[in-house]
Amino acid sequence: MTATLSFDPTTLREAFSAFPSGVVAVAGLVDGLPVGLAASSFQSVSLEPALVSFSVANTSSTWPVLRRAGELGLSVLASHHDQVCRQLAGPAEERFADLPVHVGQEGGVLLDDAVATFECSIEREVEAGDHTWVLLALHSADDLGGDALVFHRSAFPRLTGGSAA
Ligand SMILES: Cc1cc2nc3c(=O)[nH]c(=O)nc-3n(C[C@H](O)[C@H](O)[C@H](O)COP(=O)(O)O)c2cc1C
Repeated sequence: MTATLSFDPTTLREAFSAFPSGVVAVAGLVDGLPVGLAASSFQSVSLEPALVSFSVANTSSTWPVLRRAGELGLSVLASHHDQVCRQLAGPAEERFADLPVHVGQEGGVLLDDAVATFECSIEREVEAGDHTWVLLALHSADDLGGDALVFHRSAFPRLTGGSAA
């Protein structure tokens, strides 16, 4: 990798947080139990073949376990899921407590009231600084409708007004 400038971490975090995103629950069954985390780094990548990605911090203690799940479920969180998002980013042993989830047709763990769901498997993992970029091959994709949770400047602002024409 080429040498890069070093940045003040707070400045960089703030600049990155100016870019709004959705949040997905990344979840799978490992030894029969749901394992997962919240991720705002989800991106669509390719239509043919159907690929998406997200990046995971190398400090994650969940990813080394979750990557062992054969099939991963990605659930796009709905606008009312701010607390669910915090739960999915909180203590690992409480992430699925009282959370309405089901196992999808392909075997991924999906949130019952997500606005969209995907099931996928790991295509490639690429070292990317202090994160790992995970490229995922899709096996299912469903748009269930509704407004998505938005993560912007470390908060969950409500979208107001209609769509721009
Ligand atoms: C809104 C939001 C977005 C997040 N996005 C990511 C992400 O894209 N990648 C990541 O590794 N962690 C992300 N996290 C943190 C994880 O959800 C989780 O807290 C982290 O992986 C630490 O837990 P672990 O050690 O069990 O993995 C996010 C947290 C929140 C609240």
